[in-house]
Amino acid sequence: MEIENSCRLKVLISEEQIDEKVAFLGKAISRDYAQVRDLVLVAVLRGSVYFAVDLSRNLSIPFILDFIGISSYGGGMEHPGAVRITKDLDVNITHKNVLLVEDIVDTGLTLNYLLKKLRIRNPSSLRVCTFLDMPEKRILDVPVDYKGFEIPDAFIVGYGLDYHEHYRNMKVIAVLK
Ligand code: IMP
Repeated sequence: MEIENSCRLKVLISEEQIDEKVAFLGKAISRDYAQVRDLVLVAVLRGSVYFAVDLSRNLSIPFILDFIGISSYGGGMEHPGAVRITKDLDVNITHKNVLLVEDIVDTGLTLNYLLKKLRIRNPSSLRVCTFLDMPEKRILDVPVDYKGFEIPDAFIVGYGLDYHEHYRNMKVIAVLK
């Protein structure tokens, strides 16, 4: 209710739509990795945690869940341009099948950086699953294997995405004006 009454937030994706999409992605990934025994889900801290946990609960195949921390927008709406790892993986991904789980691909700079850092560790395969994709903002052409929703250019909050650490725990995805 608070969300609908607010003049700064406009709901873009409802809780029901999120649940349906996560279940759909979980099925697709479970089917595609059915023969794989060494899947590592790499969730990018902190934004993708909500999605990664929900996604993992919709998988019917074995996997290891690990986390990588990176610096991102600096909390605001502007992009700092620089990305760095703030927490590395605990799992050795060499010769493992890795699925990188992202909250949103915007410019593609972060994903491009992460893919480079992970590729040099020689995983057997490296694919990307993002919940949100904002193609209009893309600067770098990055591969996306699974995506939840394509959305227009806007600043998005909720379901893990924040503005100065606010709104992460919202159950819907909204545009912040
Ligand atoms: P990119 O490098 O521009 O693709 O952005 C990557 C990261 O920036 C995402 O994983 C998010 O953590 C953050 N980000 C990008 N767009 C938004 C947004 O609209 N709202 C909140 N965070 C965002």
